[in-house]
Amino acid sequence: MMQEELTVLSLDRKPDFVETPYIESVTQRALDYLQAGYPIHFCGAAGTGKTTLAMHVAAQLGRQVVLLHGNDEFASSDLIGAQSGYRSTKVIDNYIHSVLKKEESVSKQWVDNRLTTACKYGFTLIYDEFTRSRPEANNVLLSILEERLLELPSIHLGESYLQVHPNFCAIFTSNPEEYAGVHKSQDALLDRMITITLDHHDLETEVAITQTKSGLPWKHSKAIVDIVREFRDLGVNNCRPTVRACLMLSRIVAASGCAVSADDPDFKRICRDVLGPNSVKVSHNSRAVAFERLDEILAKHCPSVPKLVKGEAAAGARKAAQGSSIHGK
Ligand SMILES: Nc1ncnc2c1ncn2[C@@H]1O[C@H](COP(=O)(O)OP(=O)(O)O)[C@@H](O)[C@H]1O
Ligand SMILES: [Mg+2]
Repeated sequence: MMQEELTVLSLDRKPDFVETPYIESVTQRALDYLQAGYPIHFCGAAGTGKTTLAMHVAAQLGRQVVLLHGNDEFASSDLIGAQSGYRSTKVIDNYIHSVLKKEESVSKQWVDNRLTTACKYGFTLIYDEFTRSRPEANNVLLSILEERLLELPSIHLGESYLQVHPNFCAIFTSNPEEYAGVHKSQDALLDRMITITLDHHDLETEVAITQTKSGLPWKHSKAIVDIVREFRDLGVNNCRPTVRACLMLSRIVAASGCAVSADDPDFKRICRDVLGPNSVKVSHNSRAVAFERLDEILAKHCPSVPKLVKGEAAAGARKAAQGSSIHGK
């Protein structure tokens, strides 16, 4: 006897999900397009919030969710089903309110897989990083999105097509940066979805995420985000460090109890580690640039003396121990 476990998720809004005017407006656009019958595609660099938004939008739709992650080793049969075999499913517990597992015992029967299940029952499909799968594996999506027909191999009880349920919706994400393992996505597939290009969150959102997820006071969260954003602007491709660096810094500060201050050697060390050359992608002599500018950037955003005009920052940092922190709201 062969078994297949299907994992269908019921998403609920997470308590630490941050909703600012920026997030609200992107969410609303996505919902409008989905409700008009179009698949949507969040496209953006790492850390621009694609996966989180996809989960949030799917939760708003209120239907069960099938989650797929792009994978170089996928074949179409992995998306729509395979005739036999046991496949374990990856459970992502991050956004999951409850995980419903449906076990099906099959014996020489077609085994529905996640995409087939979503199409059949009208669930919401989240296909995260779909360009990591080979274009041939994704071809099956063309007729699903256009004709709302899922083509099944003829072995499936004599049927060759499955009519896609009217409630079926699809949310895709991808990262346009070129790196190993990502295939140039097919134009035909992209032509069938509405692409919402995401940039890094705006300042307000980035601070709110940092504050919510670390518990640090607003002014310390703001200082950390300012530091990270200044490092981000040093980079040529303007992608890193991402909001993940804000979360790392703020959570480590919260856990270690050090001060968000240019004068705190622990804070400086944490910044050095988190914002090191791997995080700050500066193409010319990255190590030197990132570390040379660290003191100056820290002195600018978290001095422990009243804010100084440019040029006095370094002097201010030296005197900082005498003053008290004045920054932000
Ligand atoms: N609206 C939001 N509310 C709370 N946290 C968020 C929000 N958007 C992004 N994050 C956090 O920021 C980080 C990056 O977001 P993620 O969705 O994983 O980005 P991407 O998929 O584009 O790489 C994650 O830790 C995520 O939890
Ligand atoms: Mg992601």
